[in-house]
Amino acid sequence: MKISRLWGYQILDSRGKPTLAATLLLSDGSVHTARIPSGASTGLHEARELRDQDGKFAESMYGGSSVYQACENINDLVTPQLIGHHPDFFKADQMLRELDTSDGFQSIGANAALAISISVAKAQAHAHGGSLARLFQPEGSLKLPMPMVNILSGGAHARNIIDIQDVLALPHGATSFHEAMSWVSAIREVASIEGSKLGAATNLTADEGGLAIEFGSIEAACEFVASCISIVGLRVGADVSLAIDFAATQFYQDGIYRLAKSDRSYTSDEFISYIQKLITSQPILSIEDPFAEDDWRSWSAFMSDAPANLQVIGDDLFTTNLARLERGIDEEASNAILIKPNQNGLLSSTLEVFERAQSAKFRTIVSARSGETEDSWLADLAVGWRAEQIKVGSTHGSDRTAKWNRLFELEATETCEFSKPF
Ligand code: PGA
Ligand code: ZN
Repeated sequence: MKISRLWGYQILDSRGKPTLAATLLLSDGSVHTARIPSGASTGLHEARELRDQDGKFAESMYGGSSVYQACENINDLVTPQLIGHHPDFFKADQMLRELDTSDGFQSIGANAALAISISVAKAQAHAHGGSLARLFQPEGSLKLPMPMVNILSGGAHARNIIDIQDVLALPHGATSFHEAMSWVSAIREVASIEGSKLGAATNLTADEGGLAIEFGSIEAACEFVASCISIVGLRVGADVSLAIDFAATQFYQDGIYRLAKSDRSYTSDEFISYIQKLITSQPILSIEDPFAEDDWRSWSAFMSDAPANLQVIGDDLFTTNLARLERGIDEEASNAILIKPNQNGLLSSTLEVFERAQSAKFRTIVSARSGETEDSWLADLAVGWRAEQIKVGSTHGSDRTAKWNRLFELEATETCEFSKPF
């Protein structure tokens, strides 16, 4: 089977913002489309998402956020090189690396690069007669990742109504994927009811489908979610614990961590003590980006004294970048990594980062972005790569359920085990 046609074009993401898709036609007539997500609390060291801030498309109705140039890069530069070839994402990635030798796809755009990488991989899976998950794991029982599900949102995803970005439920006591999802769904629904009792407008959801309920402190937000876990009849800490994404880069400036809602400011050392207290006073099992993306010293200082069972995830810290992960391993900056393919730009090098993390015994959490689409390739990657965990937002919004529902489908139609990382 060979590639007959390939188109790059602009679509809309879950925030109504332009993003990029690529559709590939194979010689057997089958069609393979990849839709690319986009972040809001992006890390400084991510590969470059190309948008039309300047150049000939800057005057479009989308006010500089369109991706027409990235589409043109696909159609004019990439498509002619792929037509007539068998779909092979390693080879396509190699071609993309040669086409744009800059760091982070400055020229063609990481959004264009990833759209090619994923659409070619989907076509390749089809040519092999199976799903994208099965392209990576052709035989044996599949492993479904432990979900980590957004209940409350703040930070850049909900007008800063909580100082941090997410309070998530981590159903580590569940014994199957569907049981885990039934628990977190119940918690999310109870949180909505309890939020209304506090006077919150719970029909207003945040970017990833979590509830945008205002809390004056991080502790109050944690206590609220913990109480919802109890209300549904689950054991806090034994069945379900909390995970926090601080997204601390967002509130760090000139050496100071400033929590505006709590009206408190901390130096790095003070913030380390603050986090240490928070994880002992709240049922927290996992923290993400507790320190800013380049505050390496704080990460290592915190880790040197962190409880052994605490998961400490680098998201903006690593930006799914191999050199940054190597530094993190050397400096013992964390013990887990968030894997976001669009931070990297290529499927093959995202896989390389993933495998390096596994070999260093880092926990792996495959993650969506706050701006998502109805595409579900992320779920297939998580399963095909045997990731321990997955984080795609809440249980609300079809951009989110597309991924959960793909995991339900795999659970129903394949022989699967369930990941129990805790
Ligand atoms: P983002 O948020 O996609 O806006 O970067 C997700 C996260 O920080 O995990
Ligand atoms: Zn994050």
